[in-house]
Amino acid sequence: MFYETKHSSRDFFKSLGLNFNPFKALIVPRPIGWISTIDENGVANLAPYSFFNAVSSDPPMLYFSSGGEHEQDGGEKDSLRNIRQNGQFVFNLVSSELTKAMNDSASPAPRAIDEFEMTGLTKSPSRLVRPPRVAQSPVQLECTLHQFIDLPPSPSGKSNIMVIGHVVGVHIDENLIVEGRVDILKAQPTARLGYLDYCNVTQSFALTRPNWPLEEKPKKS
Ligand SMILES: Cc1cc2nc3c(=O)[nH]c(=O)nc-3n(C[C@H](O)[C@H](O)[C@H](O)COP(=O)(O)O)c2cc1C
Repeated sequence: MFYETKHSSRDFFKSLGLNFNPFKALIVPRPIGWISTIDENGVANLAPYSFFNAVSSDPPMLYFSSGGEHEQDGGEKDSLRNIRQNGQFVFNLVSSELTKAMNDSASPAPRAIDEFEMTGLTKSPSRLVRPPRVAQSPVQLECTLHQFIDLPPSPSGKSNIMVIGHVVGVHIDENLIVEGRVDILKAQPTARLGYLDYCNVTQSFALTRPNWPLEEKPKKS
């Protein structure tokens, strides 16, 4: 199957035998940026973003991307709005046991709702920024805004805005540290697949980087 992305209507995908645009099912698994922010009245906000990843390690930078509007009253989503106001946010890792709370925190709640309270999560104060951390999360990264990038809007005019942050503080649960390394399998992070599907990281393997020339030549068939 091949298609050009200038086509994006539901009917177009139906004509290909697809129920939905498959794009989000093709770049997988996507880590989930569970982003906490705070507004000018001190109301905390927490929401998941799977258009999320690290973009450099030295300095440590990450991004998430907000598409569309706040479902209750239009305008920008709370995370974006709060970061525009104060330039600060926190990434919280979604361990397997936090999956339900993460999903609940995506509900289109009114702006005044604090998703920590709504989902029964505990706030931990951050060290360097104002937004609180999810205490139950085993990794939290305190971030300051580096840059907003306006991506092209959707054909229906919905905005897509990329938020790039500089990680200024790193919290790691000591229980994850085994023999000097972070054993992420202990957290079994939840990641996003397409549609309404998710996965957890439950297995890993190591590969050493190859020298040049390669020691083992690929066999010719
Ligand atoms: C797993 C998951 C991933 C999501 N990823 C994104 C995303 O990458 N970008 C986005 O704009 N919304 C995403 N959403 C939807 C937002 O979380 C949702 O719109 C949320 O209500 C925004 O909250 P806020 O207005 O409090 O910032 C995602 C939802 C879920 C459950």
